[in-house]
Amino acid sequence: MLKLENVTASYGFANVLHNIDLSIEKNEIVALIGANGAGKSTTLKAISGVVKLNSGQILFNDVRIDKLRPEEIVSIGIGHVPEGRRVFPGLTVLENLEVGASGWRGMKSTDLSRDLDRVFEMFPALKPRIKQLAWSMSGGEQQMLAISRALMSRPKLLLMDEPSLGLSPLLVQNLTESIKIIRENGTTILLVEQNAKMAFDLADRAYVLEVGEIALSGYTKDLRTDDRVKAAYLAA
Ligand SMILES: Nc1ncnc2c1ncn2[C@@H]1O[C@H](COP(=O)(O)OP(=O)(O)OP(=O)(O)O)[C@@H](O)[C@H]1O
Ligand SMILES: [Mg+2]
Repeated sequence: MLKLENVTASYGFANVLHNIDLSIEKNEIVALIGANGAGKSTTLKAISGVVKLNSGQILFNDVRIDKLRPEEIVSIGIGHVPEGRRVFPGLTVLENLEVGASGWRGMKSTDLSRDLDRVFEMFPALKPRIKQLAWSMSGGEQQMLAISRALMSRPKLLLMDEPSLGLSPLLVQNLTESIKIIRENGTTILLVEQNAKMAFDLADRAYVLEVGEIALSGYTKDLRTDDRVKAAYLAA
């Protein structure tokens, strides 16, 4: 479904991604893990068109997307939940969700209410808060809203940047269940996580990024027993 081939990207002079090769099959959950500054968020931004490539290409269902604008990438079915719960603070919960839905062309009001019902079923805590301004929600609620907003664009592929960050263990468990449901509903997922244990529990495969390069990749069931992975990412 998604293929990064030889992707190199930089901010100004600083090269951040070097020759990244990464692929995701339809209906997989693929994890991308790595230390702070390794380039995980930059990889997601390259896919969603926020960061331009220096070289290489990105294919989505065999079509090149690396020259498209970010809003075009949303409209072809790639949603992005950015790092740090970026919701629109001055908009209500409902308005945030409506903005998310506007990424999907051809939306009718009946579709909108059906999609709203679907996200409220997944995150019931949002429903009584539809008129609340996003800035006044708790961190966990804002994270649910950020995920819900991305789901409103009906993504075929969802890019999630550290969704568990700052959530209590109970909320991380709820989030894990929600991610499973999102996949069961037909959305493929690329999951960036510092919480490698959570990522390994959810993902079919994983890539390990070290200073902008893919250091390791494979099925999570095999990577779990790899000594380097155990020492660097899974040690308690
Ligand atoms: N807008 C920017 N301008 C300049 N350098 C940047 C910019 N954004 C990121 N970088 C640099 O690119 C490198 C990779 O950053 P990135 O955010 O992709 O890392 P990450 O793996 O997501 O880290 P973290 O786990 O801390 O979120 C870092 O060295 C960072 O300082
Ligand atoms: Mg990051």
